[in-house]
This record gives sequence, C-alpha cells and structure tokens, in this order.
Amino acid sequence: MLTANCKLSTQLVYMFSWLFKRKKEEDEDVYEHVPRPENADWSFLGADMHSHFIPGIDDGAATIENSLTLIRAMVDMGYKNIITTPHIMVDYYPNTPNTIQNGLQILQNALKENDINIPVRAAAEYYIDETFIKLLESEQPLLPIIDKQVLVEFSMLFEPPMLNDAIFKMQSAGYLPIIAHPERYLFFHNDFRRYREFKDRGCLMQLNMLSVSGYYGKNIKMIAEELLSKGMYDYCGSDMHHEKHAAILKAMTGTKDYDKFIGYPFKNPLLCV
Ligand SMILES: [Fe+2]
Repeated sequence: MLTANCKLSTQLVYMFSWLFKRKKEEDEDVYEHVPRPENADWSFLGADMHSHFIPGIDDGAATIENSLTLIRAMVDMGYKNIITTPHIMVDYYPNTPNTIQNGLQILQNALKENDINIPVRAAAEYYIDETFIKLLESEQPLLPIIDKQVLVEFSMLFEPPMLNDAIFKMQSAGYLPIIAHPERYLFFHNDFRRYREFKDRGCLMQLNMLSVSGYYGKNIKMIAEELLSKGMYDYCGSDMHHEKHAAILKAMTGTKDYDKFIGYPFKNPLLCV
C-alpha cells in the first residue's frame, strides 16, 4: 500500500512538473525580434553534454530526421563533440543501457550515411525517485558523462524526499553527481544556501544554456545569472529537445546574454575526445 502511494505521488509530481514546464516554455518566446546571426559560434565550449538526440526514446527527437536536423545545427554552431543524455524515468521513459546503446547505433549509422562528421556518444539523464534508489542498490553500473560523473535531475516543483539519500548512495558507490539545471528547481530559489550545500557535498552543477535567455522564465534567468556570477557551475549544456531550442541557442550569440558565457571556466572542453 505504502509503495503504491509513493508511486502515485511520484507520478503526480512528475505530471505537475511536466505541465508546468510545458506551459513556461510555450509562454516564453525570447529573442523573437533578434535577427539570427549568420555565424552562431559556441565552438569555445567544444562539447555539449546534455541533449535528447536519440530518436524515439524520450521527449527529444522523435524521428531520425529530427535527430539529424538538431545535430546539423550543433555542428553549424561549432560544437566538436556531443554526449547525448536520454531520460531514464521509470513511468515515462523506461530506458536502459540497452535501449540507449541500440538507439545510439542507429543514430551513428545515420550520421555516417549523411556525412555529418561529429563524434556522438551517449550517457543518460537519471530522474531521482524511488526507482533510481533501487537501481543504485542493485549496483548496476550507471551511464556516465565521463569517468564516474553522472547527470541527475529531479522534480522541479517539489523536493523529492529521497534526494539526499540518492546523492549519498551515488557518492558511496564512487559516482560524482552532476545536478542538471539547478536553476530550474523552484524550491531552491528562496534559499541560496541549498546550492552551496550541494557544492560543499561535492556535487557538480550544469547550467541549461537557455536558462540565461529567459526561455524558462525570468526567475530562472535571474538564478542562473546569480549562480554564474558566483562561479557555481561546472558544465553548461544545451538540453536540446527540438528545433526551437536550437533556434534560441543560435539567436543568443547575437545578444548580451552570450557575453555571460565568454571566459567562464566551463569544463566542457575537457569532454572532447
Ligand atoms: Fe534534459
């Protein structure tokens, strides 16, 4: 009974988070009037480490054609390496190393056939919930971004009760958690000490680049800028799902928001192979 209640509450939390996320994204049409720069250049980052390019296995690219369009956009923007990160979220995207590896193979074959030359490897974006705790307890290896660094996310609206336990268990198993888009968790916004707490516990943090544009809302932009100014981020990622994301990332290079990335010591170049 208790397990069923937990599962139901996790589903409700996810559903509300998802609806909220969709609404915010649809509401925001940033850079609408900014002319698209001819040469959008993100080449100084070298690698992107957060995206949803494997077709049909999560809420990112739906078809192989979508995947190729998005990856062509990344090449145009100067990226040299891609580590793509499908969701692993039990009720919605029940991916496994196998589904991800198979999808990656299809993607790599299509890239070759279409002469798109960029190394693409795959990791995952793990959703922290009861199932993730069970996965950790099963000691099955997680898919890392690099070495033992693993990308994790959680509900944006409510702090999951098992968050601390998940971080502790990851670290006990030798993993280094990378917290995806910390600026998007609303329950941290009024208590900046929580960010410092995660850093002090040894977690890494990944900025969603579009947060700086205001795409997810003004508050999230403000928090992202504050975390940037305090040097709290380790990586930045496109978290690209579809063409609108690519268009905003391109447009950003023609705005003042782009300057906030220049000279920041992101570790992305260290991910290049
Ligand atoms: Fe993501």
